[in-house]
Amino acid sequence: MFEFDLAATADKPAFYRDLHAALGGLTAGEPDAIANMANAAALLWEYLPDINWAGFYRAVADDELVLGPFQGKAACIRIPFGQGVCGAAAATREVQVVADVHAFPGHIACDAASASELVVPIVVEGRLIGVLDLDSPHPGRFDAEDAVGCAALMALLGPRIAG
Ligand code: SME
Repeated sequence: MFEFDLAATADKPAFYRDLHAALGGLTAGEPDAIANMANAAALLWEYLPDINWAGFYRAVADDELVLGPFQGKAACIRIPFGQGVCGAAAATREVQVVADVHAFPGHIACDAASASELVVPIVVEGRLIGVLDLDSPHPGRFDAEDAVGCAALMALLGPRIAG
């Protein structure tokens, strides 16, 4: 059983440092990528406020993402690079912070409740492993501090899911 002394506060950097420590402990010494992505999705789902989807898409080919472990409603399975927010993150390898998904060209609506989205590419030694995708039912839910915090989480997790 895992229990974490974690609470979302107005001090987002401090919250993400706590989350980083929790994720580090949760995945330490475990080489299985699926297990680590599954527990990471569960951790984010439990502790990040105001989200309706948290999970991973894996870069299984040079041009396509495939759904990985997640929490939330059943989702689109395959996303070509360049399509939607996840595909944009995969193609550019840049974090995508989208305040209004309905204004994002090509946004893929897996859950009609989603209003804003944060997608972080996971790159290990120059290789794109996949992306972390977070959705929120609230417009503008994610800001630069969420982007920095989640990028740090993925820098930690990346080598532990790279296989
Ligand atoms: N909305 C995403 C697709 C994935 S679901 O949100 C889980 C996108 O446009 O990439």
